Amino acid sequence: MDFKLTEEQLMIQQAARDFAQAELLPGVIERDEHSKFPTEAVKIMGELGFLGMMVDPKYGGSGLDSVSYVLAMEEIAKVDASAAVVMSVNNSLVCAGMEKYCNEEQKMKYLVPLAKGEKIGAFCLSEPEAGSDATSQKTTAVDMGDYYLLNGTKNWITNGATASTYLVIAQTDVEKGHKGINAFIVEKGWEGFEIGPKEKKMGIRGSDTHSLMFTDVKVPKENRIGEDGFGFAFAMNVLNGGRIGIASQALGIAQGAYELSLKYAKERKAFKTEIINHQAIAFKLADMATQISAARMLCFKAAAEKDNGEDISISGAMAKLFASKTAMDTTIEAVQIHGGNGYVAEYHVERMMRDAKITQIYEGTSEIQKIVISRGIAK
Ligand code: CAA
Ligand code: FAD
Repeated sequence: MDFKLTEEQLMIQQAARDFAQAELLPGVIERDEHSKFPTEAVKIMGELGFLGMMVDPKYGGSGLDSVSYVLAMEEIAKVDASAAVVMSVNNSLVCAGMEKYCNEEQKMKYLVPLAKGEKIGAFCLSEPEAGSDATSQKTTAVDMGDYYLLNGTKNWITNGATASTYLVIAQTDVEKGHKGINAFIVEKGWEGFEIGPKEKKMGIRGSDTHSLMFTDVKVPKENRIGEDGFGFAFAMNVLNGGRIGIASQALGIAQGAYELSLKYAKERKAFKTEIINHQAIAFKLADMATQISAARMLCFKAAAEKDNGEDISISGAMAKLFASKTAMDTTIEAVQIHGGNGYVAEYHVERMMRDAKITQIYEGTSEIQKIVISRGIAK
């Protein structure tokens, strides 16, 4: 076992760090305050190859390994968790799902612009009545011969308005339960496809989250992904990898809050000494550093297993479960270490605390990760 990063991985980490400092840090507070999407920064992310990091260069991607992806996600989430979720959805749900399961025509038409960052993708599984209970899909796609007729509503979709390409999960045969579900590639602008208003959120306010409404949308047959009935397996397998992305986002939020707290604790004085000299504060920092280090190892392990082609359902869920708790615990303590300043936007940690919460909810809540892990280990 080698705990050293390669030259290439170190280079990617540095490039992501430089990008985050130069392009994301300025304006992050303002974007949070006004729920503003980081349009310019996302464009640059695409140019730098951060939106199709693991995609084969023949499909427009950067051809990097998953550990490099974890490193880049951490650096970006450390500064701006909203930009990180845009990156995570595009990379590990949309591009990864398309590269693994789409046919050549679909890849050339849809994957290439997504991997290059010329277009943004969205992954549409959740519905008003089917979040954790994802097999209870109410959106239907009726086989009409050479096209499907799509009807229904998707909820809380990340990149909802920014995306051009949407992977939509829908029920095609109720009798068959989750084996009667399919996944489709849907384009923005198709007749009957409406985008709801932007959600007002507690955190990751720079990302755009929307409901999507489909009314008699005609989806050409060639836009179905895989064999008939493959949609639920598609969604689950894609989410196994996606959870590494969200775990890395959580890791980055935690690392960001920790670094700010360490610096603050060395500078801020109370009772004639820097607060780091009070053991109550020093121990908080020790706990943060330990939890973050463990979270990072779980992310690396799941990423390395993914690159080895192993089943990552358990390791991905473990990484997300642990890293998201780390993000929450760390950011709460970061606010505490900052005292009154911790409650003020200028010091960043209050935003990080709000951003951290979502990592315990999306791509499967922490309770769902425990279901995935416990079912996996019981097998
Ligand atoms: N990997 C591969 N296959 C899996 C799987 C996994 N992690 N979990 C379940 N499956 C398969 C099962 O093997 C089964 O297939 P077979 O019948 O062929 O064996 C099928 O899926 C149904 O599984 P269960 O019988 O376990 O179904 P269930 O209804 O009891 O539970 C669940 C399923 C695991 C809870 C699933 O519904 C789930 O993962 N829910 C959470 C949904 C989720 O993560 N949504 C995220 C939306 S995207 C998002 O959030 C993006 C973002 O924010 C940025
Ligand atoms: P519910 O399923 O109603 O759960 C409510 C509570 O009950 C949770 O605590 C849950 O853990 C618990 N619970 C439910 N079932 C069980 C059980 N069997 N055992 C124990 N506890 C249980 N979805 C997408 O498809 N694409 C996206 O891009 C996307 N982006 C999102 C962005 C944001 C900002 C948000 C808020 C959500 C996003 N989602 C997206 C949806 C997200 O994946 C769901 O919100 C999440 O899966 C939980 O579903 P739910 O909200 O319906 O909660």
